Amino acid sequence: MARVFRSVGVVGLGTMGAGIVEVFARHGLEVVALDMDRAALERGHGALRASTDRAVKRGRLTAAEQQVLLERVRLSTAYQDLADVDLVVEAVSERFDLKQRVFVELDRVCRTDAILATNTSSLSVTELAVATQRPQHVIGLHFFNPAPVMRLVEVVDTPLTAPGVVADVVDLCGRLGKVPVAVGDRAGFVANALLFGYLNQAVSMYESGYASREDIDTAMTVACGLPMGPLALLDLIGLDTAYQILESLYQRGTRDRRYAPAPLLTRMVTAGLLGRKTGRGFYDYSADSRPEPSGDTAQGAGSDRSGGAIRVAVVEDDRWARLIEQSEGTRGEALVVTAEPAGADVVIVNDDQVSVATVATTVGERTVLAVTSSRPVVEAAVASARPSTVVGMRLHEPPVETSGSGRLVEIVGSVLTEQSTVQMARRVAERLGVTAVHCGDRVGGIVQALLFPHLNDAVRMLEAGYATADDIDHAMTLGCGYPIGPLTMLDRIGPAVVLRGLEELYGELREPSLAPAPLLARLVTAGRPIRPDSSGAF
Ligand code: 3HC
Repeated sequence: MARVFRSVGVVGLGTMGAGIVEVFARHGLEVVALDMDRAALERGHGALRASTDRAVKRGRLTAAEQQVLLERVRLSTAYQDLADVDLVVEAVSERFDLKQRVFVELDRVCRTDAILATNTSSLSVTELAVATQRPQHVIGLHFFNPAPVMRLVEVVDTPLTAPGVVADVVDLCGRLGKVPVAVGDRAGFVANALLFGYLNQAVSMYESGYASREDIDTAMTVACGLPMGPLALLDLIGLDTAYQILESLYQRGTRDRRYAPAPLLTRMVTAGLLGRKTGRGFYDYSADSRPEPSGDTAQGAGSDRSGGAIRVAVVEDDRWARLIEQSEGTRGEALVVTAEPAGADVVIVNDDQVSVATVATTVGERTVLAVTSSRPVVEAAVASARPSTVVGMRLHEPPVETSGSGRLVEIVGSVLTEQSTVQMARRVAERLGVTAVHCGDRVGGIVQALLFPHLNDAVRMLEAGYATADDIDHAMTLGCGYPIGPLTMLDRIGPAVVLRGLEELYGELREPSLAPAPLLARLVTAGRPIRPDSSGAF
């Protein structure tokens, strides 16, 4: 018979713990909320009140319901108060020694049939289980931040978990309005194992001065439809938590350098710049709780009052030709299309299709040559024999429409590009009303360099048999708010496009984990998508 959960305990009322308390109390369970001292309890309770106040303001909860919810939560600093609960979720800091101590205490005071769950996101659930006398009743129950909003819960079993425990907890998750994904005990489970390599790469990209924090975040929200950029998301998660997760993904995983915490992250943690919870991380939250991305848009920048019409020609690039055609109604006379490159101010050239050297011989000396491939711009610049007038303009169209998504252009100057050339590229983007970001001259720009390895990791996980395609896609849509899962996104972009992009990245950076997943290469050869509509086996 399925277990009935009436009362639960939550240990640790930090960002996650307070959210988990809210989830349980909201769905009718009695909650004992435990932390070290009164101050920690007050902070946690304050967060619970603020979150439920907001729900009342938005009409999702009545004031009376809020009152009942808050009355279901009993604050305590004594483990003994957990003696009679059916389930405890431990949500203290992501440190093994700390969590182990909590589990030893819980094992001592809780009923022998109570389930002990950890909200760890990267540590070994099995190692915590064996620290108790009841390893068969220990599982992982991993919520996502903000816990009241994100629907995913990863339910993690160990080789010692008793039959039926996962099924009972999966049932409970359903009662809480969550979507459970049952997985085995592996560092980072599904979502964090995929997410944190990507987040860490974004920090490295910012640290190397390759792009600004705003441009990195804008690129990923606009071109991929993600709800937040990677640096804003790290501020939400907390940089100390992110550091601990990366450290254990590195230590427990494949010792892949991409998971070794970026030096900047380490320094920010040392400096106490932990993100939203301390008021400052990659962004400053003291004046406004929401960072404003500052990508240039035609509307946002509004600075282009200078000069007359820009004459633009497009050579062998259907996507740019389509974009310019579609802008006909809005661009007015500020941008004029000419079929003849010889008479143009800017010639947009797909340098995968046509040699820049050839085009360069047909245009005026000061004409800007905007190349569109993902390869380093300096290659085309040198080939053109007039490098100061060559700039990259890489167009991205989101694989899915969301409220924040749209077309994005990455403007890339090589070491030889003149400032006036870059400015001309910016003006073209402004007049077309396309969001523009700026990045250094390397393969893959911002979007491909961050997104493609992330998608590749999802294919590797599928190939390793750790999770199904549905589990991987659900983990990222329900746990991290992606508009579509990474495998579906890969199919929308085109497996062959992603494969080629990865080969270029790997060719330049020689990072073993950037090598395309063998499954991806095989599917491209076979001409098949990652997620066929049929139930085809991989
Ligand atoms: N508590 C409760 N509710 C909250 C909340 C919070 N902290 N933050 C937002 N909400 C609610 C709002 O009330 C609103 O509800 P409504 O539409 O019914 O009124 C809804 O969520 C949307 O909020 P907003 O309109 O204020 O803001 P956004 O639309 O910008 O959404 C977001 C905010 C839900 C945080 C969204 O940006 C998002 O999905 N971001 C990605 C978050 C993510 O990736 N989380 C996972 C991180 S990894 C992790 O947690 C694992 C761990 O191990 C580290």
